[in-house]
Amino acid sequence: MRTQVAIVGAGPAGLLLSHLLWLDGIDSVILENRSRDYVERRVRAGVCEDPTVKLLRDVGLAERLDREGLPHHGIVLRFDGEDHRIALTDLTGRTITVYGQQEIVKDLIAARLKAGAQIHFEVSDVEVHDVTGDRPRVTYKDSAGAVQEIQADVIAGCDGFHGISRPSIPDSELTVYDHVYPFAWLGVLVKAPPANDELIYANHERGFALHSMRTPEVTRLYLQVDPSDSLDQWSDARIWDELHARFAIDGDFSLHEGPILERLLSPMRSFVVEPMRYGRLFLAGDSAHIVPPTGAKGMNLAVHDVLVLSRAFKELLQSGRTDLVESYSDTCLRRVWRAEHFSYFMTSMLHRAHDADPFQHRLQLSQLRYTASSTAAATSLAENYVGLPFP
Ligand code: PHB
Repeated sequence: MRTQVAIVGAGPAGLLLSHLLWLDGIDSVILENRSRDYVERRVRAGVCEDPTVKLLRDVGLAERLDREGLPHHGIVLRFDGEDHRIALTDLTGRTITVYGQQEIVKDLIAARLKAGAQIHFEVSDVEVHDVTGDRPRVTYKDSAGAVQEIQADVIAGCDGFHGISRPSIPDSELTVYDHVYPFAWLGVLVKAPPANDELIYANHERGFALHSMRTPEVTRLYLQVDPSDSLDQWSDARIWDELHARFAIDGDFSLHEGPILERLLSPMRSFVVEPMRYGRLFLAGDSAHIVPPTGAKGMNLAVHDVLVLSRAFKELLQSGRTDLVESYSDTCLRRVWRAEHFSYFMTSMLHRAHDADPFQHRLQLSQLRYTASSTAAATSLAENYVGLPFP
């Protein structure tokens, strides 16, 4: 099999890259080790930055997002028993849209298949070869177990943090930056209407909690938990007790309880590799970088990576010029590091370590109060949160 761009991974990065390339008349093939059903159900974050939404609109992918997505004009920081609203739209002129990542994945798969794209699900043993030469290859076993080979001009590694792409680059070629936090998130999807129209980021002495949503009928809630905790330590009753305690304020507020439809523990880490390229293998999205979810940046970074990558591939494959593939990694890493800093800032400001140093806690409160009371500080948070414009 021959194609121009072999894409490993059918998450938001791989699927959107394939769509952007198709708009430019460039052919690609996508390999995915999970089933279509699995990737369409995989519950992930749900906040789309303003530039992400604009891009999806520009490339004809926002029809359902514009109908079902929930535009938000502010977020709430809850601490000291009080709410402090960050007026995103007043401060920046822009909005964010709550629309689940797996909804974007569904829309992308539908659009790709309608255009006749090749997406091979449930493949195994994917390996990349000869990436330092001009004729890289990918081998894999198809869903029937038969060995296949794809010859391509370039390969895009969009297969996430645990994928095969990054580990196939020699260690000596990459610099790794890794920071693991002393907490994890327990996320639950609840069949009950959200208790507030806007997201609530709560700093409480029992730990961080986040109130988000998916639809007017489905609430998404998160609790900071110990990274060594397992799901069986968290009964429904314990989850609700803890949520009620952490969201309590001096005033009227109560979460709406309902059946828990999904639950997931996720570790928190910050991770970057540099550069995001080795020969003709280009990393995009979580295969190259991870942010803790507190800044809601993960998918948005992946979208930016593949926008930059699609332009670089277009230039390389249609005019033989290499400027943009040469600058791909540096261009992406500038945005990646901004998001790394912002996510670290949000995470450090909002979580409580178990061995909380009282000095650190005083600093957190000071930062929260400053952010809530200074227009300059709130604007800084807001412009990072809604997303700095794409190039
Ligand atoms: C979510 O709705 O899943 C969500 C929202 C904001 C975050 C992280 C996750 O910072």
